[in-house]
Amino acid sequence: MNEQAYLAAVGAVAHHFGEFPHAVCILTFGCQQNEADSEKLRGMAHEMGYTDVDDPAEADLILLNTCAIREHAEQKVLSYVGRLKEYREKNPALVVGICGCMTAQPHRVKQIRERYPQVSFTLDPASLDRFPETLAAVLEAGKRTFVTGSEKPEITEGLPTARALRHRAWVSIMYGCNNFCSYCIVPYVRGRERSRASAEILAEVSSLVDAGCRDITLLGQNVNSYRGDCDFATLLDRVASLPGDFLLRFMTSHPKDVPDALIEVMAKHPGRIAPQFHLPLQSGSDRILARMNRKYTRKTYLETVEKLRRAIPDIVLSTDLIIGFPGETDEDFAETMQVVRDVRYDMIYSFLYSPRRGTPAATMPDPVPDAVRKARMAELLETQNAISLSLAEKYVGRTLRVLADAPGREPGMLTGRTPGGRLVHFPGDESLVGQFVRVTIDRAEPFALRGTMTPGAPENS
Ligand code: SAH
Ligand code: SF4
Ligand code: F3S
Repeated sequence: MNEQAYLAAVGAVAHHFGEFPHAVCILTFGCQQNEADSEKLRGMAHEMGYTDVDDPAEADLILLNTCAIREHAEQKVLSYVGRLKEYREKNPALVVGICGCMTAQPHRVKQIRERYPQVSFTLDPASLDRFPETLAAVLEAGKRTFVTGSEKPEITEGLPTARALRHRAWVSIMYGCNNFCSYCIVPYVRGRERSRASAEILAEVSSLVDAGCRDITLLGQNVNSYRGDCDFATLLDRVASLPGDFLLRFMTSHPKDVPDALIEVMAKHPGRIAPQFHLPLQSGSDRILARMNRKYTRKTYLETVEKLRRAIPDIVLSTDLIIGFPGETDEDFAETMQVVRDVRYDMIYSFLYSPRRGTPAATMPDPVPDAVRKARMAELLETQNAISLSLAEKYVGRTLRVLADAPGREPGMLTGRTPGGRLVHFPGDESLVGQFVRVTIDRAEPFALRGTMTPGAPENS
């Protein structure tokens, strides 16, 4: 969409409300890509004169930014949308819009169109820039609108972004996915890989750092498959070489795209590039990895892990695992468990396999019975909890550079992140939020560390 049409639509919505205040409530489901998209939706809503509210009952516009990765994620949204009927009955001027990955699936759009009259529009992730235009059509002509354009190749630069925090930010560097893992809906709902120009990325990071941002995550479905005007290792090197005081992270990485050059760049910038790597394994069995179309083997994956550990000894490793993929036998699962025990991840994110309509795995034979996959999940979590705790215990007594991130739940407490991305709770004043502080770790829990601020020299992990 061209800039003039965009601005005309922004003006039309602002004009519709005139002097009347109008509020938006944006609810985000799903991954960091959706969080980043919500910041753009919010930025556009602000341009149209909306203010933010947390309570949907106070909103003139409710936007749900949805996820389709697992059935449960979609059902959660649909049950929420069901409840919005009441809100609409109480306030007929209320506009409900659904954005995000769910709305890139034709069968879901059809379902929403037919069964949820309280929804005025849907907008798929590739059509974010059409938000003002769509909203203007709904407000001015009362027209229900269903927008899809997920195959659109170009990236719209320059959309306004209303970031939740000053000190921490996502910067999307690529969109979409080309990999078609057999279980995954993402390539269908996010379209093919598109990379931003490196100059745009460098300019965005520089302006964030100038504005006081201290923790920046480069974001992409397969961030290390970035192919703009350079490769990912080169881009990371350039971003890491920018002046300023900030920590650079990136996620999610695909194990097939971790060349030595990338590891070298990480090792070259200690203190700037976080010693952290999220490397989704999905399964430890080569047979299952082939059926998943993951394009690596257990051996090549383990070699990558070894190289990372050799180059960055304190690196914090995490992974994603799918339990109960069709045809997963006890032996296959045992191989996954073996990798988990061998690698000793700091953290794992494990998911029960969920069939996604339209993906090859959805029609594969030999589903794993529910009781079996749940028993496997329980075994995995028990093993992992022990590993996480024993790795966390190694931090006790160490002093780390921690970014104070937010006030804690208990009064007088703060939560922060170590360079490796571990959560830390420590006593401190709210005024420190957004600053790097030194924290000595006193106690370890499986999912968090506890510590106290100290003037000592910090370590970088
Ligand atoms: N692009 C990233 C992650 C994408 S989605 C990658 O390739 O690693 C995040 C995680 O959700 C995946 O790593 C996978 O573990 C999980 N996932 C994706 N599809 C799933 C499905 N159908 N059922 C269960 N888990 C799934
Ligand atoms: Fe999904 Fe695979 Fe693409 Fe990751 S790489 S988003 S799991 S298809
Ligand atoms: Fe979900 Fe879409 Fe992210 S399907 S995991 S919100 S890319």
